[in-house]
Amino acid sequence: VRRIAVLTSGGDAPGMNAAIRAVVRTASHQGIEVVGVRRGFAGLHRGELGLLGPRDVANIIQRGGTTLLTARSRTWRTPEGRALGAKYLREWDVDGLVVIGGDGSFHGAHYLQEEHGIPVIGIPGTIDNDLYGTDYTIGYFTAVETALDAVDKLRDTGASHERIFVIEVMGRHAGHIAVDVAVAGGAEEVFIPEDGKPVSDVVQTVQESVAKGKRGSIIIVAEGYAGGAQAVGDAITAGTGLETRVTILGHIQRGGTPVASDRILASRLGEAAVFALMEGRRGEMVGTTCGQITHTPLHVTWERSKDVNRDLYRCAKTLSV
Ligand code: F6P
Repeated sequence: VRRIAVLTSGGDAPGMNAAIRAVVRTASHQGIEVVGVRRGFAGLHRGELGLLGPRDVANIIQRGGTTLLTARSRTWRTPEGRALGAKYLREWDVDGLVVIGGDGSFHGAHYLQEEHGIPVIGIPGTIDNDLYGTDYTIGYFTAVETALDAVDKLRDTGASHERIFVIEVMGRHAGHIAVDVAVAGGAEEVFIPEDGKPVSDVVQTVQESVAKGKRGSIIIVAEGYAGGAQAVGDAITAGTGLETRVTILGHIQRGGTPVASDRILASRLGEAAVFALMEGRRGEMVGTTCGQITHTPLHVTWERSKDVNRDLYRCAKTLSV
C-alpha cells in the first residue's frame, strides 16, 4: 500500500477530526501517502481530492465537526456517480479508501468496492451509536454529554415551575443516546424506537409520579420514537392537564469539542483502519468490542441491529421510583 484516501461522510460527529488526524499520521509513520477527499462522496465524484500531510492535520484533534467537510450525496447512490468517484481514485493512484461515517456512508463504501474493486475500510463515526460490530461509535460520548448538559439546565427551570419537561434527543432509528441520558439525567421515563411502548404509558407514569409527591418530571424521548417528543407531550397534556413543555435538542448534539473518550476511540480506530488496509483487509469496519479492536464486514454493520443496553434501560425505570 503506497497511497490511501480518506473522507468523512453523512452526519458529522465530534471526534471525526481526531480520526482524520490518526489516519494521516499512522499512514505517514508507515511511509504511506494520504489523499484527503473533501465533502464526502459528493466531493469524490466531483474530484475534490488533494494530498494531506501530517502537518496538515495539526491542531484539529480538539475540534468538533470535520475539517474535510461532509455531505449526504444523492449522486453517489447511482452507479454513474460511483463510477466517477472510482475514476478519480484511480487517477490519484489510490490503493485503498478509509470512510469515516455511519450506515449510509458504509453502504456507499460497500458498493464502491463491489463495483470497482477499490479496497475500503470503514471507521464508525456517528453520534447515534447504531452500528453493529462496535461497542461505541465516534461522537456518541460527546453527544451524550451535550444532551445531558441541556437536560440538567431544563431540570432547573422545570423544577422551579413544577412543570413536566419532555426532551427529545437525537437517534434517527436508535435509542442509545436516550437511554444513557435518561439514566444520567435522572429521567422519569424514556421512550425509544427499539421498544413498542405505547405513548399512552406516559400518562400513568406522570400520574404516579405526582401521587408520589414529585413536583416535576423529566421525560426523555428518542427522535426515532413514533411521533417524537411532541406526541409524548401532547399525550401528557391530554391525559393529565398538567403544564408540559417540549424541547427538541436537535443538531446542538452534533457539535462541540469532542470529549476524551471520543478522541481516544477516534485515534485508535484511525490507526487500526490504516493497519487493516496494510494487512490486505477490505470491505470491513474497524471497531472496538470490550476494549479490543475488531473487524466486521461492512454489510453486517447495517444488516444486524445493535440493541440498546437493556440493563440500563431497566435501570432507568427502577431509579425513577
Ligand atoms: O445520524 C446522525 C443524525 O444526527 C441523526 O441522529 C439524525 O436523525 C440525523 O443525523 C439528522 O440528519 P441531518 O443533519 O441531515 O438533518
